Amino acid sequence: MLGSGGREHALSWKLAQSRAIAKEGGKLFASPGNPGIAEHAECFDMELTDHDLVIAFCEQERIGLVVVGPEAPLVDGLADSLRAEGFAVFGPSKAAAQLEGSKGFTKELCDRANIPTAGYVRTTSLDEAKAALDRFSPPYVLKADGLAAGKGVVIAENRADAEDALADMFGGQFGAAGAEVVIEEFMTGEEVSYFALTDGASIVAFGSAQDHKRVGEGDTGPNTGGMGAYSPASILTPELRAEVMQKILTPTVQQLASEGTPYSGVLYAGLMLTEEGPKLVEYNCRFGDPECQVLMMRLEEDLADYMLACANNALASMERPGFSSDAAMTVVMAAKGYPGTPEKGGAIDLDGAEADGAKVFHAGTVLDDDGVLRASGGRVLNVTARGKDVKAAQEAAYAAVKKVDFPSGFYRSDIGWREIERS
Ligand code: AMP
Ligand code: GLY
Repeated sequence: MLGSGGREHALSWKLAQSRAIAKEGGKLFASPGNPGIAEHAECFDMELTDHDLVIAFCEQERIGLVVVGPEAPLVDGLADSLRAEGFAVFGPSKAAAQLEGSKGFTKELCDRANIPTAGYVRTTSLDEAKAALDRFSPPYVLKADGLAAGKGVVIAENRADAEDALADMFGGQFGAAGAEVVIEEFMTGEEVSYFALTDGASIVAFGSAQDHKRVGEGDTGPNTGGMGAYSPASILTPELRAEVMQKILTPTVQQLASEGTPYSGVLYAGLMLTEEGPKLVEYNCRFGDPECQVLMMRLEEDLADYMLACANNALASMERPGFSSDAAMTVVMAAKGYPGTPEKGGAIDLDGAEADGAKVFHAGTVLDDDGVLRASGGRVLNVTARGKDVKAAQEAAYAAVKKVDFPSGFYRSDIGWREIERS
């Protein structure tokens, strides 16, 4: 397992329950991991940009499956380097990871495969971008082309703000990621996430989720990586799921395969449910964080088997993955200051928090020399629970949140409000 966040903890927790690990004496390693992951895996530090080092470790430990959690090493081609040495890898090649690594790449792929998405222009200079604004009306959607740790999208209410944001992007705010900027038509509707596993040829649905991106109650305040999530998302009805599979996910996988760059791993579609039907907002080449946490809470399969099937082009031989009819919710506990500069080092006591079946995934924690768990990032914990419906999952998640002692932390107390209003 490569990575160190709540997503990687949830994946490690699930992989540790797989037959290969739980029954057949397999062993899980994680790098860099975190104190939560360390309950399931042997953690060690390794520079993931040093592909030779990763390969040497995998050879030494005769690793049977490498799971790449975050996008950066995928966009950097780590999966290719490992596959070239014969290792089974869960995660796309560098070429296919462009789906997340370049917004412009994805928009052009959508054109070629006739996939519904917002109209757009790719621009490579400030002057060109400013002129292109003429072709849109406010609010203006501006996206740094490359990876920007989830911060590369600006929605500007007026032309002056848009021009300022463009000047920042081309001025190096996001480094090389902003050397090109995609300007998009603004779409209106509700956002939802849909996941699929694919080996490049077969594709299977792998659950729906919705997250809360804003830091404040009632979905207000600055954007974050996600303050909580739930699964399933009832707004994505069976009819809509079929439509998304047919018009968005399947053509994407087929187009990439036909161009000689097949996609393998998890494909995460961020969707907008518009009046004209579902449209693609963006693709991610990895699981969502914290969406993964709620998916893993509901998955009723051996995760390692499915990941291996993706890696070995054997997904067609697998049953459709089963998920519990229960709902799951995760509440993010963040360090005060997030999404600005988070307070580091706050002590955390998790004693009793998992007593009633909840699971606390670690997202940004460290153990200090005295064995005290402390906050080490913005999003610190993902308190996750299941229930017969979203209301029950919410009650269980917040009951567990109340048992967590984390004085320098905060959380939103309304995760799931929209879904609960609907039900
Ligand atoms: P992304 O990083 O592409 O997911 O963009 C971040 C957020 O910006 C999305 O979750 C949406 O809320 C919003 N967004 C992105 N593109 C559009 C668009 N074309 N129209 C409306 N909102 C958008
Ligand atoms: N929670 C949003 C993401 O993982 O991109």
